[in-house]
Amino acid sequence: MSLSALTAQETFEIMNMAMNLGTTLKVKGNIAKNDDHFAINLGEGPEKLGLHFNPRYDRSSIVLNSFDGEWGKELVVNHLCFAQGSEITVVMTFDSDGFKVTLPDGHQISFPNRLGLSQVPYLRVEGGSASPP
Ligand code: GAL
Repeated sequence: MSLSALTAQETFEIMNMAMNLGTTLKVKGNIAKNDDHFAINLGEGPEKLGLHFNPRYDRSSIVLNSFDGEWGKELVVNHLCFAQGSEITVVMTFDSDGFKVTLPDGHQISFPNRLGLSQVPYLRVEGGSASPP
């Protein structure tokens, strides 16, 4: 599965994706020059996110978390290998071990399936710049 979405300040949402255990999703998008963060969320719905993948340029890091009524414990990864103003592809795999995110340079980040989801029908991609372009 592959999709192209995402520019700054836009939200892209799919409610009924066929993402079962073993599915790989490729998200391709452009990071706006003035985006200070963006996020790719996967879960059961807006209030139940198995994976929040959140690169933050203001901290030069990637924050990963889950959300189930409230945010869980953050996993912070200092491997921000893609620049603002570039086009990137991020590959996300959902299997029995949890989520695996492969960054454009091949670096892999694993994140556990904390909520015990067996499918992930919900995707939300959020751009986010602090000021308008
Ligand atoms: C919060 C932020 C949320 C989300 C969360 C992840 O501070 O407002 O958007 O990124 O951290 O732990």
